[in-house]
Amino acid sequence: MATLAVGIDVGTSSVKAVALKRTGSGYALKSVGQADIRRSEFHPEESPQAIAEAPLRALERVSQDSSFAKKPCAFAVSGPRVAPRLFKFPSIPKGEVEQAIRFEAEQIIPFDLAQAALDFVLFDEAMEEGKPVMEGLVVAVHKEEVDKRYVLLKSAGFDPVVLDIDTLALANAYAETEGMNERETVALINIGARFTNLSILHGPRRTFVRDIATGGDMLSRAISEIYGLDLPQAEKRKREAQYTPLDDLEGGGMGDDFGGGGGATEGFGDTEGFEPIDEGNEEYVLLDSDQTGFEAGDTMTDADSFEASGQTQSGMDAAQRISANRAVLADALGDLISEIQDTFKYYINRRIIPRVDKVRLCGGTAKFPDIQEFFAGQLGVPTELWNPFARIDVGGVAGKYPPNFLDELGPMMAVATGLAMRQL
Ligand SMILES: Nc1ncnc2c1ncn2[C@@H]1O[C@H](COP(=O)(O)OP(=O)(O)OP(=O)(O)O)[C@@H](O)[C@H]1O
Ligand SMILES: [Mg+2]
Repeated sequence: MATLAVGIDVGTSSVKAVALKRTGSGYALKSVGQADIRRSEFHPEESPQAIAEAPLRALERVSQDSSFAKKPCAFAVSGPRVAPRLFKFPSIPKGEVEQAIRFEAEQIIPFDLAQAALDFVLFDEAMEEGKPVMEGLVVAVHKEEVDKRYVLLKSAGFDPVVLDIDTLALANAYAETEGMNERETVALINIGARFTNLSILHGPRRTFVRDIATGGDMLSRAISEIYGLDLPQAEKRKREAQYTPLDDLEGGGMGDDFGGGGGATEGFGDTEGFEPIDEGNEEYVLLDSDQTGFEAGDTMTDADSFEASGQTQSGMDAAQRISANRAVLADALGDLISEIQDTFKYYINRRIIPRVDKVRLCGGTAKFPDIQEFFAGQLGVPTELWNPFARIDVGGVAGKYPPNFLDELGPMMAVATGLAMRQL
């Protein structure tokens, strides 16, 4: 059976690694690894040198696992120095295709091709006005970007042999685990820290991709501004998603500052599943457990009933929390939503896709509470969380990890999973 590469995804905020093996019916998980990268914004106490070396240190931690160390690996790049472009020209003999694509690429790639690694995928031949046309995706990646990643992985003891881009690895992971039928169109949205990878799969053979330079950092920033917290605190609160009504905090809070955030939720009222809530419920602050003595998961309005009932939220608290989450999401991810809407419109208006049937969200930011409902409402497309491990046999390794660990981690591992499906 074909040997698979180990998949290593070096993100802005963490390194993710996946090792898979093929089984009769699909894939089984051999190992998974993740290590945070300390970043200056969230760790101002760290020296510049420690920050510069943080990606290497994270990779070294991942390489402690013998499933990854020294193994041939597939890695990916993303961001502004990756240029995926659609091309189309009248059908020509197979032998001339590569030359023609190179010529096309020169016209449409925004940097010097002498500095780029180039690859392409051809879609099935299509007919246009009675004539056969060749269509596909050509991808140019700036060599400096590749070299930087390659040297980093080598320094950490990996053997980088397969190059990919985040968006195509994502599409690969989805197609291999969920499968695509001929007529459906699925948008995968992988929301990381600095970047969001968008892959639109139209049937099993056509994929359209782009990276958008925004992500979970914007949520941390919004939380920091709206609630008057410094960035490290805001990042921590975001991940713990602890909100409390303003009234319950001594001395009020950020009522005035919050006005903008509340206004930003306009237009959200008709979202299915979200009942509009009374005005005044939208003034919340994030609870800092250092100040209150509460621990993550404690009820935020009534500690006694929390203990008695064993529940973290009453129905009312839940509604208030949703409102606070909504305000933060609208404030932080409004631009991302517009970019995604524009992308959908672009492909639909050019009749490249008929519509988007569903959205699957992944990446660390997809864990933010209520984000699926927010995307569903804003995009008008059914939206669900995507955990690529859901259709991978994890039985062989699940015992190694705490309960729910793989379910929690899965949505962040989509790119690494797609890379781990690459054959050597
Ligand atoms: N429970 C959570 N709730 C909200 N956000 C979270 C949660 N856990 C992690 N995040 C956020 O997810 C982001 C990291 O996600 P991910 O690992 O997919 O990004 P990355 O690959 O490191 O970054 P990028 O792809 O942008 O370079 C961070 O912004 C982090 O704050
Ligand atoms: Mg990422």
